[in-house]
Amino acid sequence: MTYSSEDLQRFLDIATEAACAGGAVLQHYWGNLSNIQQKGRPGDLVTEADKAAEKEVLAVLRRHVPTHAILAEESGSIGKQTDELLWAVDPLDGTTNYTHQYPFCGCSVGLLINNQPAVGAIFDPVHNHLFRAAKGLGATCNREPISVSKTETLADSLLVTGFAYDRRETIDNNYAEFCELTHLTRGVRRGGAASIDLAYVACGRLDGYWERGLSPWDVAAGVILVQEAGGKVTAYDEGSFDIGSGRILATNGHIHSELSDVLADVDPLARFAPSGS
Ligand code: IPD
Ligand code: CA
Ligand code: CA
Repeated sequence: MTYSSEDLQRFLDIATEAACAGGAVLQHYWGNLSNIQQKGRPGDLVTEADKAAEKEVLAVLRRHVPTHAILAEESGSIGKQTDELLWAVDPLDGTTNYTHQYPFCGCSVGLLINNQPAVGAIFDPVHNHLFRAAKGLGATCNREPISVSKTETLADSLLVTGFAYDRRETIDNNYAEFCELTHLTRGVRRGGAASIDLAYVACGRLDGYWERGLSPWDVAAGVILVQEAGGKVTAYDEGSFDIGSGRILATNGHIHSELSDVLADVDPLARFAPSGS
């Protein structure tokens, strides 16, 4: 089935309502958490804000699109999972930041159509920034159009990356890539919220982003933002982006090949391997 721009606009309005509803919950609990738990690996936290925000997001989706399948971080798969339409929900991306009141987090609601990010809304509850995009309809922040940066070279770039929760268990933990690219660029930030990392690439504050070990809900909304803002999203080797791979390379387009080449050349990790691995 194909979807018209009217369909996509409707889905975008639903995503927006859902991300804002979740974001309002995040604003409510900001600085007021009483229940912080580790849910998996060290550092992988969940709080009452994650759960309450997800409840609000799901209520909006159930109200508007009750038959659509959902993949939500805290609730898992909901409804008959099909490739055609899948909502990917991260009620609180950046839980560690949020727990420490480090102001870099978001409520992210994306829609995949045939496994491709097609619609996304991300609400940053600390700065009241609403990032939105849908395929063919452009990308905005607080309803103003946004676009990626014009930076031409890696040497002039400010990048961002992240380190997945399995970083203590795998030699493929992104530390070597981080070190290498720190030498080759103006700097590499570690934002701590993949959705906002992507939103910042989309609005030109950052020139590129790469990461491994991601889940679909981390990036579903952010990918379409970068694409609609004029950027490029692929696999590390510039092949097609695969949301199931956990890996992403997202840039302003100009530095894409240069960054991809560095990622291909980095020697995995002997020098930066965690002790005992
Ligand atoms: C995490 C953040 C972080 C990324 C991790 C994600 P969470 O999401 O997006 O930036 O490095 O891989 O799991 O756990 O805060 O929703
Ligand atoms: Ca996340
Ligand atoms: Ca989360």
